[in-house]
Amino acid sequence: MVNLGILVSGSGSNLQAIIDNIEAGRVDAKIKVVVSNVPDVYALERARKHNIPSVVICHKEFKTREEFDQRLVEILKAHEVELVVLAGFMRIITPVLLRSFPMRVMNIHPALLPAFPGTHVWQTEVDSGVKFAGCTVHFVDEGTDTGPIIIQAVVPVYEDDTGDTLNARILKQEHKIYSQAIQLYAEGHLEIQGHRVLAKGIPKVPDAFMINPPAGIFDP
Ligand code: GRF
Repeated sequence: MVNLGILVSGSGSNLQAIIDNIEAGRVDAKIKVVVSNVPDVYALERARKHNIPSVVICHKEFKTREEFDQRLVEILKAHEVELVVLAGFMRIITPVLLRSFPMRVMNIHPALLPAFPGTHVWQTEVDSGVKFAGCTVHFVDEGTDTGPIIIQAVVPVYEDDTGDTLNARILKQEHKIYSQAIQLYAEGHLEIQGHRVLAKGIPKVPDAFMINPPAGIFDP
């Protein structure tokens, strides 16, 4: 059983998926605290509905990012958090937090990193013309979206996609792989070797592929 602290800034659909997977017994974890840097976001309501303690700390009340992160560390430690889960948390994390939770901060990003780092990437992905997109769960390091990758899911990009339709397709997969990443951590499967994260004891994904647009005329 791993103690989680989940950091949010918005609607919290990833938080909800993690709550649901814990309640269904698919993830061996307990959410000790939800922390939001924005008051009144729906993620806080989700926490309340499931009797999960929540804390709001407004970043604007702190002079520096480091002071804000120091407060975060105090809250997380006070709740005996082992693994910090960023779920739509729209703040840049400083070494103050990372040094207190080395390789114990996870983030989810709506692209196949290292492609398309940064925020609001869906329209950029569509405009770039890529035929596949996806999402990534990674450990957070001191760069932006640069940390060791734990798990990824791939989705097709269609010609009539907008940023919004692609976002919706990716988000469905986010709701699966974030819980999977947490469960891999909870079961002790994750081993970091350099910049790679190995899922020890987990069978390989089948050697499948997708081609977009479909290459039907070449099928035997
Ligand atoms: C997701 O798109 C995630 O990839 C990004 O922020 C969004 C969070 O959405 N990091 P939600 O608050 O979990 O609904």
